[in-house]
Amino acid sequence: MKNILIGVTGGIAAYKAIEIVNALRKKGHSVTVVMTKSAQEFIRPLTFQTLSGNRVITDMFGSEDPSRISHIELAKQADVFAIVPATANIIGKIASGIADDMLSTIALVVRCPSVIAPAMNTLMYENRIVQENIEKLKSRGFTVLDTDNGTLACGDTGKGKLLPWETIVAEIEQFV
Ligand SMILES: Cc1cc2nc3c(=O)[nH]c(=O)nc-3n(C[C@H](O)[C@H](O)[C@H](O)COP(=O)(O)O)c2cc1C
Repeated sequence: MKNILIGVTGGIAAYKAIEIVNALRKKGHSVTVVMTKSAQEFIRPLTFQTLSGNRVITDMFGSEDPSRISHIELAKQADVFAIVPATANIIGKIASGIADDMLSTIALVVRCPSVIAPAMNTLMYENRIVQENIEKLKSRGFTVLDTDNGTLACGDTGKGKLLPWETIVAEIEQFV
Protein backbone atom coordinates (compact mmCIF):
# COMPACT_ATOMS: atom_id res chain seq x y z
CA MET A 1 0.00 0.00 0.00
CA LYS A 2 1.40 3.37 -1.04
CA ASN A 3 0.35 6.96 -0.39
CA ILE A 4 -0.75 8.52 -3.64
CA LEU A 5 -1.55 12.22 -3.82
CA ILE A 6 -3.69 13.21 -6.81
CA GLY A 7 -4.17 16.82 -7.88
CA VAL A 8 -7.21 17.57 -10.01
CA THR A 9 -7.39 20.85 -11.95
CA GLY A 10 -10.11 22.67 -13.85
CA GLY A 11 -10.33 20.98 -17.20
CA ILE A 12 -13.25 19.21 -18.81
CA ALA A 13 -11.28 15.93 -18.44
CA ALA A 14 -11.51 16.22 -14.64
CA TYR A 15 -14.22 13.54 -14.64
CA LYS A 16 -11.67 11.01 -15.88
CA ALA A 17 -9.74 11.43 -12.63
CA ILE A 18 -12.68 9.72 -10.92
CA GLU A 19 -11.81 6.40 -12.60
CA ILE A 20 -8.15 6.84 -11.69
CA VAL A 21 -8.85 7.44 -8.00
CA ASN A 22 -11.29 4.52 -7.97
CA ALA A 23 -8.80 2.16 -9.64
CA LEU A 24 -5.89 3.12 -7.36
CA ARG A 25 -8.01 2.71 -4.23
CA LYS A 26 -9.21 -0.71 -5.42
CA LYS A 27 -5.58 -1.70 -5.90
CA GLY A 28 -5.16 -1.07 -2.19
CA HIS A 29 -3.45 2.33 -2.19
CA SER A 30 -4.25 5.22 0.08
CA VAL A 31 -5.38 8.02 -2.22
CA THR A 32 -5.76 11.65 -1.22
CA VAL A 33 -7.18 14.17 -3.67
CA VAL A 34 -6.40 17.88 -3.85
CA MET A 35 -8.76 19.92 -6.03
CA THR A 36 -8.25 23.42 -7.36
CA LYS A 37 -11.11 25.90 -7.14
CA SER A 38 -11.68 25.54 -10.91
CA ALA A 39 -11.75 21.73 -10.65
CA GLN A 40 -14.65 22.06 -8.23
CA GLU A 41 -16.64 23.76 -10.99
CA PHE A 42 -16.48 20.48 -12.91
CA ILE A 43 -16.77 17.85 -10.17
CA ARG A 44 -17.84 17.94 -6.55
CA PRO A 45 -15.30 16.97 -3.88
CA LEU A 46 -17.86 14.51 -2.46
CA THR A 47 -17.26 12.17 -5.40
CA PHE A 48 -13.55 11.92 -4.65
CA GLN A 49 -14.14 11.78 -0.90
CA THR A 50 -16.47 8.81 -1.31
CA LEU A 51 -14.24 6.92 -3.73
CA SER A 52 -10.97 7.61 -1.92
CA GLY A 53 -12.35 7.29 1.60
CA ASN A 54 -10.19 10.29 2.49
CA ARG A 55 -10.81 13.96 3.11
CA VAL A 56 -10.48 15.98 -0.10
CA ILE A 57 -8.27 19.05 0.16
CA THR A 58 -10.04 21.95 -1.48
CA ASP A 59 -8.64 25.16 -0.11
CA MET A 60 -5.70 26.73 1.56
CA PHE A 61 -7.39 28.61 4.35
CA GLY A 62 -10.35 26.39 5.24
CA SER A 63 -11.11 25.46 8.82
CA GLU A 64 -8.06 23.43 9.70
CA ASP A 65 -8.61 20.85 12.38
CA PRO A 66 -5.22 20.70 14.15
CA SER A 67 -5.71 17.00 14.82
CA ARG A 68 -5.72 16.38 11.07
CA ILE A 69 -2.60 15.81 9.09
CA SER A 70 -1.34 19.02 7.46
CA HIS A 71 -1.00 19.46 3.72
CA ILE A 72 2.76 19.76 4.09
CA GLU A 73 2.82 16.46 5.96
CA LEU A 74 0.65 14.85 3.25
CA ALA A 75 3.03 16.08 0.59
CA LYS A 76 6.02 14.77 2.52
CA GLN A 77 4.41 11.38 3.06
CA ALA A 78 3.36 10.93 -0.59
CA ASP A 79 5.05 8.08 -2.45
CA VAL A 80 3.74 9.35 -5.78
CA PHE A 81 2.21 12.68 -6.73
CA ALA A 82 0.14 13.03 -9.91
CA ILE A 83 -1.84 15.88 -11.44
CA VAL A 84 -4.70 14.61 -13.60
CA PRO A 85 -5.80 16.45 -15.63
CA ALA A 86 -3.18 19.19 -15.59
CA THR A 87 -4.31 22.52 -17.04
CA ALA A 88 -2.03 24.90 -18.90
CA ASN A 89 -2.44 27.08 -15.82
CA ILE A 90 -1.08 24.61 -13.23
CA ILE A 91 1.78 23.65 -15.56
CA GLY A 92 2.69 27.31 -15.91
CA LYS A 93 2.41 27.95 -12.20
CA ILE A 94 4.64 25.05 -11.22
CA ALA A 95 7.17 25.97 -13.91
CA SER A 96 7.28 29.49 -12.48
CA GLY A 97 7.40 28.48 -8.83
CA ILE A 98 4.04 30.07 -8.11
CA ALA A 99 2.28 28.74 -5.02
CA ASP A 100 -0.98 30.64 -4.77
CA ASP A 101 -3.32 27.77 -3.93
CA MET A 102 -3.12 24.43 -2.19
CA LEU A 103 -2.22 22.31 -5.22
CA SER A 104 0.53 24.58 -6.52
CA THR A 105 1.90 24.89 -2.98
CA ILE A 106 1.97 21.12 -2.55
CA ALA A 107 3.65 20.77 -5.95
CA LEU A 108 6.58 22.78 -4.61
CA VAL A 109 6.80 20.65 -1.46
CA VAL A 110 6.73 17.12 -2.84
CA ARG A 111 10.00 15.29 -3.36
CA CYS A 112 8.49 11.99 -4.56
CA PRO A 113 8.07 10.96 -8.24
CA SER A 114 5.58 13.35 -9.83
CA VAL A 115 3.45 12.61 -12.87
CA ILE A 116 1.75 15.39 -14.83
CA ALA A 117 -1.00 14.43 -17.30
CA PRO A 118 -1.80 17.48 -19.43
CA ALA A 119 -5.20 17.99 -21.03
CA MET A 120 -6.23 21.05 -22.95
CA ASN A 121 -7.34 22.43 -26.28
CA THR A 122 -4.90 21.77 -29.13
CA LEU A 123 -4.13 25.47 -29.61
CA MET A 124 -3.32 25.82 -25.91
CA TYR A 125 -1.23 22.66 -25.92
CA GLU A 126 0.76 23.74 -28.97
CA ASN A 127 1.32 27.24 -27.60
CA ARG A 128 5.08 27.79 -27.36
CA ILE A 129 4.81 29.07 -23.80
CA VAL A 130 2.97 25.93 -22.67
CA GLN A 131 5.50 23.72 -24.48
CA GLU A 132 8.38 25.61 -22.86
CA ASN A 133 6.76 25.15 -19.45
CA ILE A 134 6.36 21.42 -20.11
CA GLU A 135 10.04 21.18 -21.09
CA LYS A 136 10.98 23.04 -17.92
CA LEU A 137 9.03 20.62 -15.76
CA LYS A 138 10.63 17.66 -17.55
CA SER A 139 14.10 19.13 -16.98
CA ARG A 140 13.26 19.45 -13.28
CA GLY A 141 12.42 15.76 -12.98
CA PHE A 142 8.65 15.77 -13.45
CA THR A 143 7.28 12.96 -15.61
CA VAL A 144 5.10 14.89 -18.04
CA LEU A 145 2.97 12.47 -20.01
CA ASP A 146 2.15 12.90 -23.66
CA THR A 147 -1.39 13.63 -24.81
CA ASP A 148 -3.61 11.77 -27.23
CA ASN A 149 -4.61 12.92 -30.66
CA GLY A 150 -8.35 13.00 -31.05
CA THR A 151 -11.55 14.95 -30.96
CA LEU A 152 -11.63 17.23 -27.96
CA ALA A 153 -14.64 18.18 -25.88
CA CYS A 154 -14.76 21.55 -27.67
CA GLY A 155 -15.08 19.79 -31.04
CA ASP A 156 -11.54 20.53 -32.26
CA THR A 157 -9.36 17.65 -33.40
CA GLY A 158 -5.70 17.33 -32.54
CA LYS A 159 -3.29 16.95 -29.65
CA GLY A 160 -4.15 17.86 -26.07
CA LYS A 161 -6.60 15.09 -25.22
CA LEU A 162 -5.99 13.38 -21.89
CA LEU A 163 -4.49 9.90 -22.25
CA PRO A 164 -6.86 7.02 -21.44
CA TRP A 165 -7.25 6.74 -17.67
CA GLU A 166 -5.94 3.14 -17.71
CA THR A 167 -2.67 4.38 -19.25
CA ILE A 168 -2.33 7.04 -16.56
CA VAL A 169 -2.95 4.48 -13.79
CA ALA A 170 -0.19 2.33 -15.32
CA GLU A 171 2.20 5.32 -15.41
CA ILE A 172 1.47 6.11 -11.75
CA GLU A 173 1.92 2.46 -10.80
CA GLN A 174 5.40 2.42 -12.30
CA PHE A 175 6.45 4.42 -9.27
CA VAL A 176 4.73 2.43 -6.53
C1 LIG B 1 -15.69 24.51 -19.91
C2 LIG B 1 -14.24 24.77 -19.65
C3 LIG B 1 -13.31 23.81 -19.94
C4 LIG B 1 -11.95 24.04 -19.73
N1 LIG B 1 -11.08 23.05 -20.04
C5 LIG B 1 -9.75 23.27 -19.87
C6 LIG B 1 -8.82 22.25 -20.21
O1 LIG B 1 -9.18 21.15 -20.64
N2 LIG B 1 -7.50 22.53 -20.03
C7 LIG B 1 -7.06 23.74 -19.57
O2 LIG B 1 -5.84 23.92 -19.47
N3 LIG B 1 -7.93 24.70 -19.21
C8 LIG B 1 -9.25 24.49 -19.34
N4 LIG B 1 -10.14 25.48 -18.99
C9 LIG B 1 -9.64 26.73 -18.42
C10 LIG B 1 -9.28 26.55 -16.94
O3 LIG B 1 -10.43 26.15 -16.21
C11 LIG B 1 -8.70 27.87 -16.38
O4 LIG B 1 -7.48 28.16 -17.04
C12 LIG B 1 -8.52 27.81 -14.90
O5 LIG B 1 -7.95 29.03 -14.46
C13 LIG B 1 -7.63 26.66 -14.44
O6 LIG B 1 -7.43 26.70 -13.05
P1 LIG B 1 -6.63 25.57 -12.25
O7 LIG B 1 -5.40 25.27 -13.04
O8 LIG B 1 -6.32 26.23 -10.96
O9 LIG B 1 -7.54 24.42 -12.08
C14 LIG B 1 -11.51 25.27 -19.19
C15 LIG B 1 -12.46 26.24 -18.87
C16 LIG B 1 -13.79 26.00 -19.10
C17 LIG B 1 -14.79 27.08 -18.74
